[in-house]
Amino acid sequence: MSDGTETQSKARIQLRNIYKIFGKNPQRGIDLLNKGLSKDEILNKAKLVVGVSDVSFDIFEGETVVVMGLSGSGKSTLIRCVNRLMEPTAGQVIVDGVDVTKLNHDELRDFRRKKFSMVFQSFALFPHRTVVENVEYGLEIQGVEPEERRERALNSLKLVGLDGWGDHYPANLSGGMKQRVGLARALTVDPDVLLMDEAFSALDPLIRTDMQDELIALNDRVQKTIMFITHDLDEALKMGDRIVLMKDGEVVQVGTPEEILTRPATEYVERFVANVDITKVLTAEDVMKRPRPVAYVKDGPRVALRKMRESGLSGIFVVRQSGELVGHLSAERAADAARKEDKWVDEVTDREHVSSVPLDYPVRQLFSLCTSGNPVAVVDENQILKGIVVRGSIIAALSEANQDYHGSDESAPADASNSAGSDLSGTEDGVAVSAADAPAELSADAAEEKEANA
Ligand SMILES: Nc1ncnc2c1ncn2[C@@H]1O[C@H](COP(=O)(O)OP(=O)(O)OP(=O)(O)O)[C@@H](O)[C@H]1O
Ligand SMILES: [Mg+2]
Repeated sequence: MSDGTETQSKARIQLRNIYKIFGKNPQRGIDLLNKGLSKDEILNKAKLVVGVSDVSFDIFEGETVVVMGLSGSGKSTLIRCVNRLMEPTAGQVIVDGVDVTKLNHDELRDFRRKKFSMVFQSFALFPHRTVVENVEYGLEIQGVEPEERRERALNSLKLVGLDGWGDHYPANLSGGMKQRVGLARALTVDPDVLLMDEAFSALDPLIRTDMQDELIALNDRVQKTIMFITHDLDEALKMGDRIVLMKDGEVVQVGTPEEILTRPATEYVERFVANVDITKVLTAEDVMKRPRPVAYVKDGPRVALRKMRESGLSGIFVVRQSGELVGHLSAERAADAARKEDKWVDEVTDREHVSSVPLDYPVRQLFSLCTSGNPVAVVDENQILKGIVVRGSIIAALSEANQDYHGSDESAPADASNSAGSDLSGTEDGVAVSAADAPAELSADAAEEKEANA
């Protein structure tokens, strides 16, 4: 598990007590925060806006950390502090051991080129450049030779599923395709760290799902360290190894999706994930999968082994002819039995260390049972094996079920400024968000993107 406290992998990004206060004499904002004043009080009293307040967490090698929170909670401010598109008022950003806040202008530019790529919400493509020329952009400013950069650009177009589109102009592309180009551009420079601020938020739902899947698949092939911002809970659950939940500039919880769902640290988090509180109503039956091949007590160990091998399993549930659950058999144990010429699976089945739950078992409690990595058996009142549950299927089922919840805002946090279920958007960037069909003008975002990726 990629819990920050347990993981042995190395921290790529370390955020240490980051503050960003907007207004005159920002230091005073920090003093007032230290005196215990709230964001609102500080705004009223000192006309200072608390963007980010005392944020500390690490992002580990190969990890995707999703930062989420309501509009105005400080997500964009925070991510911009990481590559210093914004200067933090206080605190340190350490990337691979280098304190980014201490770099001078030239060092910062070099460091950005080497380490980061940033993908924004709007597509911010250059309209007069072809797709492949857009994708090459980062390499061009790095001074990479034309041939090499063309090859690398075409390669990343392939990675994002846009093979063959290189010679088109952005205007001929759909919103989803444009965002893929943006992603390809970010990937082409082969950055160590991808910073993604609502990168998929402007896409319509189906394309958005595609892009999420694409990024997950891509990340399996080329492990990136990613800081991913969204206000969408489904997206956060799907994409995040860990989730950082922000409120009023502060971090209120850092945890795996499971932890956020099952052990909300505060009432705020609880309300935030209330949409997913279908964990309370969902049962094992809702999330179970059909049992994959099972072994029968009268199978020989070799038969059981073959079933496992054919399905890529490292263990198998053992049942009687009636379907009644007997236990579990690991591949190791089966192989051992085969060597010893044991005759029946029955003789070697592990009957003790098997988790089985009834059909109406609450999903909420299933999480903890699944953490060992072993599947959990779901049985009916006659102990007949009806299904199995693995960790991944719980998250997937929750995510799906949660989508059906859109439109019901009863359980949204009280201070949610909008109403669409877990979609807590409300862009105040002043940037066109429905850029799907808009010709890609060089917006404010584009200028920023240029700076971020230059
Ligand atoms: N340039 C700025 N000047 C003054 N205040 C700012 C500036 N940028 C952001 N803020 C304020 O800082 C706080 C955090 O804003 P930020 O844009 O980081 O929120 P966000 O979580 O990204 O929200 P959204 O989901 O709407 O993108 C808000 O109160 C915002 O008004
Ligand atoms: Mg934002």
